[in-house]
Amino acid sequence: IAGAWWIFGGNEQATWDKIEEEGKIVVGMDAAYKPFEFQDENGEIVGFDVDVLKAIADKLGIDLDLQNTSFDGIIPGLQANKYDLIMSAMTITEDRKKAVNFSDPYFDASQVIAVMEDSNDIKSVDDLQGKVIAVQLGTTGDLEVSEMEGIKEIKRFDTIPEAFIALQNGQVAAVVNDLPVTKAYIKEHPEVKIVGEALTVEQYGIAFRKADTELMEKVNEALAKLKQEGTYDKIYAKWFE
Ligand code: ARG
Repeated sequence: IAGAWWIFGGNEQATWDKIEEEGKIVVGMDAAYKPFEFQDENGEIVGFDVDVLKAIADKLGIDLDLQNTSFDGIIPGLQANKYDLIMSAMTITEDRKKAVNFSDPYFDASQVIAVMEDSNDIKSVDDLQGKVIAVQLGTTGDLEVSEMEGIKEIKRFDTIPEAFIALQNGQVAAVVNDLPVTKAYIKEHPEVKIVGEALTVEQYGIAFRKADTELMEKVNEALAKLKQEGTYDKIYAKWFE
């Protein structure tokens, strides 16, 4: 079968060669994370991450093939060669670095606490004690809340929209999630508000299999160029200003 050799490969040459041969980069993302990756009215996956990656792919002369998948299984999916890379508002963490390589950071974020606008009992992180808290499974928000003492229950949802629905239904007292995504949610749902200080300092990176250093270098070079040229700033302005 033409080209089938690379699925057994996993060496750095194989992935880049496969991308060139197919003319596309296969991307793993959980496209329920507005404004980074989400489906528009037509079901098309759009967002800040998509635009940045499109601009990178343009520089490489390659198309994108976006695969919508659950965030929790995304690193195992990369390891199983289902994607060439992950672009999913993914925070660079020491733990994940054991499994994957990250590009240069491309976005600053943090975890914040969101509650219903008319609620008064949670004003800061200390007030999470004894409460039922929602997070997205396998995220840094999940990790952060899992390390807190005295939480009554952590409800772990597959996607962040489900966590916010649980908040709106009164099933949970708060959602811990990335600031830019929570802000975007509040824009459309002003009955939700952010309380207290940011819980973490985080940076997003594009994730690669350890062996794929050639692909990572190409992506890093393209990302640096986008920043120099002002293309990155234009994309940022489109989604965040
Ligand atoms: N930044 C957080 C993390 O890396 C949340 C990412 C969730 N991304 C998504 N597309 N749902 O754990």
